[in-house]
Amino acid sequence: MPETRPHAVFRPDFLDGRVALVTGGGTGICRGITEALLRHGCRAVITSRKADVLARAAAEMTEATGRTCLGVPADVRKPDEVEAAFDRTLEAFGRVDIVINGAAGNFLAPAATLSYNAFRTVMEIDALGTFNVSKAAFTKYLGAHGGNIVNISATLHYKGTPLQTHPGSAKAAVDAMTRHLAVEWGAAGIRVNAIAPGPIDETEGMKRLAPGDVKQKVERQIPLGRFGRIDEIADATLFLVSDAATYITGTVLVVDGGAWMTMSSLVPWE
Ligand code: COA
Repeated sequence: MPETRPHAVFRPDFLDGRVALVTGGGTGICRGITEALLRHGCRAVITSRKADVLARAAAEMTEATGRTCLGVPADVRKPDEVEAAFDRTLEAFGRVDIVINGAAGNFLAPAATLSYNAFRTVMEIDALGTFNVSKAAFTKYLGAHGGNIVNISATLHYKGTPLQTHPGSAKAAVDAMTRHLAVEWGAAGIRVNAIAPGPIDETEGMKRLAPGDVKQKVERQIPLGRFGRIDEIADATLFLVSDAATYITGTVLVVDGGAWMTMSSLVPWE
């Protein structure tokens, strides 16, 4: 694991009694977010397609934090599975306050050779999946009780990153959805925000997108001079769901060390 902060930024009990549902919470950034939510008082449900990965991650996080984490298999592309995951969450915990839309799919591929199905698959996971989960959250609980939705976006579409037409297009839709839902659901007491991580260490995405010595090349182009850490994305998430952010909705918080402004979108694949 990358180095983490020497001290906690947030009071360790500030989310006591809350319940979170995190899609894609079995691995990577969203596992880190889940663990941070648990460490600050939440109980949580994590979802993904892989039951074995989920079960292991949920058990490990429960053990590490002393807070209950359940793994509930669900494919965000399937509304019935998503609704069932919310039903299971409500059955187990009686409420759901925080929804993290983290499930995503990605690989490097030129648009010219990307199959129609490959483009559709990533759009379905990232964009439609975010809608399916948000809508089910609203219908099943948030619409009547309020709460927080945090969408995990990206910066790929800010400059048209090559080989990333599929996730960039999907994340652009996620950013738009963040604003639309914030506007429509503000009156229900729901804040909808997004986080756009830059290059983050120890993630499946970066292992695939910046292998080997590509990483050093990329780091030289980042204003803060390094890749980010999962705990830095988790802390941004804690901020957005906290009472320090009660007047923030519809925003995309970029957490990338300044990378998107200076990093050549061509460098990693030269
Ligand atoms: N390059 C080009 N096309 C690819 C590809 C790659 N590396 N990986 C998958 N595809 C295509 C498949 O060929 C298929 O298209 P086809 O039917 O025209 O052949 C389409 O994408 C769907 O792939 P499939 O594996 O059937 O879908 P899936 O739902 O099981 O997998 C993915 C979803 C594609 C996102 C898969 O890469 C995945 O599960 N990744 C793990 C999660 C992940 O990406 N994490 C990183 C998050 S940043």
